[in-house]
Amino acid sequence: MDIQSIQAQIENDLSAATSLPALEEIRVKYLGRKGLVSELTGSIAGLPVEQRGQFGQQVNALKNKLQGFLEAKEKTLKTQPGVSQKTGVDIGMPGIAREPGSVHPITRIIDEICAVFTRMGFSVVSGPEVETEYNNFTGLNIPLEHPSRDAFDTFYLKNYSKLLLRSHTSPVQVRVMKTQKPPLAVIVPGRVYRPDAVDASHLFMFHQIEGFLVDENIRFSDLKGVLELFAKSVFGQEIKMRFRPHFFPFTEPSVEVDISCIICKGKGCSVCGRKGWLEILGAGMIHPNVFKQVGYKAGLYTGFAFGMGVERIAMLKYGINDIRLFFENDLRFLKQF
Ligand code: DAH
Repeated sequence: MDIQSIQAQIENDLSAATSLPALEEIRVKYLGRKGLVSELTGSIAGLPVEQRGQFGQQVNALKNKLQGFLEAKEKTLKTQPGVSQKTGVDIGMPGIAREPGSVHPITRIIDEICAVFTRMGFSVVSGPEVETEYNNFTGLNIPLEHPSRDAFDTFYLKNYSKLLLRSHTSPVQVRVMKTQKPPLAVIVPGRVYRPDAVDASHLFMFHQIEGFLVDENIRFSDLKGVLELFAKSVFGQEIKMRFRPHFFPFTEPSVEVDISCIICKGKGCSVCGRKGWLEILGAGMIHPNVFKQVGYKAGLYTGFAFGMGVERIAMLKYGINDIRLFFENDLRFLKQF
């Protein structure tokens, strides 16, 4: 590069520099050991003898000029209003604002619910979202002809007929019980998948929390006590709870559990469909066939299990009317939690 264009480049760089560190960068760029001006000095030796003298003088002049420029610029930068004379730090310059993020409302609810159960001695376990058909259905006593096994209700993996995206977190019951012996008290949060058409209350992916407890002599009243403590911790001490008989293949007897409507306190409103009650989970005593599938000796253990939808609980707790809001990444929504 010739002297003229280097000088032009220096002037450009200097006028763009607005801080002392930027100025130091310029000094290194030109005057550093491998800098452009040093390079020019180095090239003198390669010139024909008669040109060396003149070129050398030009390079020296450029060097002096640049040093003069740098000193002058340093002075202006240091005497700028707001710039500390001592350090050259511009204390008036706005800092880089780091906006703290916040926990997603679904994660928050999962953490809160898991904390209630870990205080009771449950351990948190997770399982894979790609599950075997066996763990998702057969091991849970769900018969071959059950409609939930249909391809309309479960995502099967193409080319892997025995694998699917788990449609609930219950298969972790099978995984844990196949590898561990009671006493067991486990809580399983995680994502589940179902091919549902998307609307205000349905998505193809959502979160569930499964819980189960197995030991000798576990009774239905134990289930009731644990769930009551859970419901009161999450929804408030004044909440009432009721059990309705229901059917699930993996529990017998099975129930659906309602809490008194948190909006109208049981009087009846649009959120609870004028019933005064809100369904929050399914539960029951683990079916003997499930114990058989995992290889537990018949009659030795009893236990209970329950499963709940996290989005539903978050919607009830926070008064959210559209499940899609959770996953649109709209900060106006997310910042409220
Ligand atoms: N797995 C059930 C579902 O996805 C929820 C459930 C109901 C889990 C009853 C349980 C239970 O453990 O006992 O609909």
